[in-house]
Amino acid sequence: MPTLEPEQLSIREMREDEASIVLELLKDGFKDTDNRLILYVLTRPLALLLMAVGSSGLRFFLNSFVVALVVPVLLTVVALKLLLWRSPDLRQLYAYYNAGRRGLWVAVYDEDDICGCVALEPRDGEPHTAELKRLAVNRWYRRSGVGRRLLRFLEAQARAQGFKCLVAQVSVVTKAAIGLFESSGYSVSSGRQWLGYTVQQVFSKEL
Ligand SMILES: CC(C)(COP(=O)(O)OP(=O)(O)OC[C@H]1O[C@@H](n2cnc3c(N)ncnc32)[C@H](O)[C@@H]1OP(=O)(O)O)[C@@H](O)C(=O)NCCC(=O)NCCS
Repeated sequence: MPTLEPEQLSIREMREDEASIVLELLKDGFKDTDNRLILYVLTRPLALLLMAVGSSGLRFFLNSFVVALVVPVLLTVVALKLLLWRSPDLRQLYAYYNAGRRGLWVAVYDEDDICGCVALEPRDGEPHTAELKRLAVNRWYRRSGVGRRLLRFLEAQARAQGFKCLVAQVSVVTKAAIGLFESSGYSVSSGRQWLGYTVQQVFSKEL
């Protein structure tokens, strides 16, 4: 955990030429999360049972035991990847977040080192609610207060834009993000299920 000089850390809007750095930051932040979530779901008893049943059924049509075993696992992984698929197309990051009431900000350390990012979007169908998106901190800077600074900044932005509530969808395997929201006054308002297991929780806070 590096010790940061708080006054060396600033938050500002992302510039167009920084989109590729931010994209890498996001990919790095969420690659682990998605893989851990897939592993979590695959190892739930019900998922294991369904894959075993699928595998047994396939044995009637396939000679290979290995193929019959692998196909249900692959299908489950594809289904989960589709479930976790995120719009918008991240290659259009700058254009997407420079439209309407959306915005994307970066945390910069020592004037030029982009160490984190966070975005704001209005929530569909809920005019007074904003959604936190794309929160990620470079792994070298984690656990040194950058995430909390970004969260406080985003709350102030949402308030300034007239939103009354801020929500964030958090995967159940991201212990760091859960710790951050719980210790910042957020509570779980709903969740997203898969095979009866909660895979994502929606944290919300009145602003
Ligand atoms: C979640 C994330 C943004 C947190 O950023 P960070 O800069 O490390 O967070 P901070 O240092 O500001 O920590 C703030 C609080 O979060 C919690 N927290 C952070 N890391 C934690 C961890 N590894 N385990 C448990 N709690 C943790 C703690 O409550 C911490 O407060 P404390 O240090 O006073 O105990 C960062 O871990 C990350 O980028 N993760 C990958 C992407 C991701 O999961 N994004 C969230 C999507 S909603």
